Amino acid sequence: MDFSQLVKERYSVRGYKPDPIEDKKLQQVLEAARQAPTAANMQPFQLIVIHTEGRAADLRRIYDRDWFVSAPLVIVGCNIPSKAWIRDDKANYSVVDIAIVMDHLILQAAALGLGTCWIGAFNAQATRQILGLPEGVDPIVMTPLGYPDAPPRGTERKPLEQLVRYERW
Ligand SMILES: Cc1cc2nc3c(=O)[nH]c(=O)nc-3n(C[C@H](O)[C@H](O)[C@H](O)COP(=O)(O)O)c2cc1C
Repeated sequence: MDFSQLVKERYSVRGYKPDPIEDKKLQQVLEAARQAPTAANMQPFQLIVIHTEGRAADLRRIYDRDWFVSAPLVIVGCNIPSKAWIRDDKANYSVVDIAIVMDHLILQAAALGLGTCWIGAFNAQATRQILGLPEGVDPIVMTPLGYPDAPPRGTERKPLEQLVRYERW
């Protein structure tokens, strides 16, 4: 699919078929994430792939939605701030890095006909505990991964004139 079409057609999928994801497709999605650029190429992230079967109770503690626990897979994007590039003024770029990684993953998934939904409103403490995350590894964003079984909500975007300024503020 043409890239412009892909970015228009991707949407937050909030309903999934139980069908499993072919391993080849999962590997393609993970490979797209691996190819993402990161500041100074530090790659300060880890992805955790969760097979959801039999883990509904744990997953509901993380994010309590039927559609979240019904996807066959959940992928959690974690950053490791101590391994990230840091600007002169101390700004740590690890959150930017994991966002790019997840965006690569999500767009590749859409190109393969798979659904995803960015999730930031999860319970970070429960996530840490259930996934056994060590100190210094932070869960930032996660997504279910599965075949879509829900239509888009029809979200609109602001027109470019409201989002872009030229030359200065
Ligand atoms: C960083 C981030 C966090 C988000 N967190 C959630 C979330 O916790 N739950 C949810 O249902 N959607 C979440 N979303 C999805 C947005 O609501 C959605 O992307 C936006 O409304 C645009 O809709 P679309 O993805 O269908 O184009 C999140 C999106 C982003 C980018």
